[in-house]
Amino acid sequence: MILPIAQLGQPVLWQKAVEVPREEIATPGFQQFLTDMRETLDESGGVGLAAPQVFDSRRVFLAAVPVSDSVEVPPAIEVFVNPRISAASEEKARSWEGCLSFPELMVLVERAKEVGIEYLDRHGQPRSMKLRDLPARVVQHEADHLDGILTLDRALSSRHIIKASEYATVLKNTSLGEPGA
Ligand code: NI
Repeated sequence: MILPIAQLGQPVLWQKAVEVPREEIATPGFQQFLTDMRETLDESGGVGLAAPQVFDSRRVFLAAVPVSDSVEVPPAIEVFVNPRISAASEEKARSWEGCLSFPELMVLVERAKEVGIEYLDRHGQPRSMKLRDLPARVVQHEADHLDGILTLDRALSSRHIIKASEYATVLKNTSLGEPGA
């Protein structure tokens, strides 16, 4: 079932989400929720979706991450339950980010270039991952959603917020583009 995506202005986007009890992960209700989130993300064309974005204030997000070092293997959507950014590089990078909760805008956000993340997978198994560049950016963006933080909160100035319609023309010659998350 495709879920409605909370749009900017909905208070759920500003709330701190709550942890999922580990024993709840295997329940049919929670598994169905993950299936619904996946369908919603697939339909949206984004690279990440956090539960608060579908009006559910629990610490869960989906994000596209690499499953292989080979560039020929496409990223896969991973489920992150109760995720924690456990390490972040000193080195930062700036890039334009979209968000499914306000697809009309692009925001230039500075984030750690590399992160480590610990989480429970869709079966409730503890896992960890090291990510860099775009996938690292996506999980930082989604983890922010679980704390009620939006890219708009991270913009260094209003000049770092532009309409998506202008992004295509103003910035088409840069390599800073990121799809929505
Ligand atoms: Ni977002």
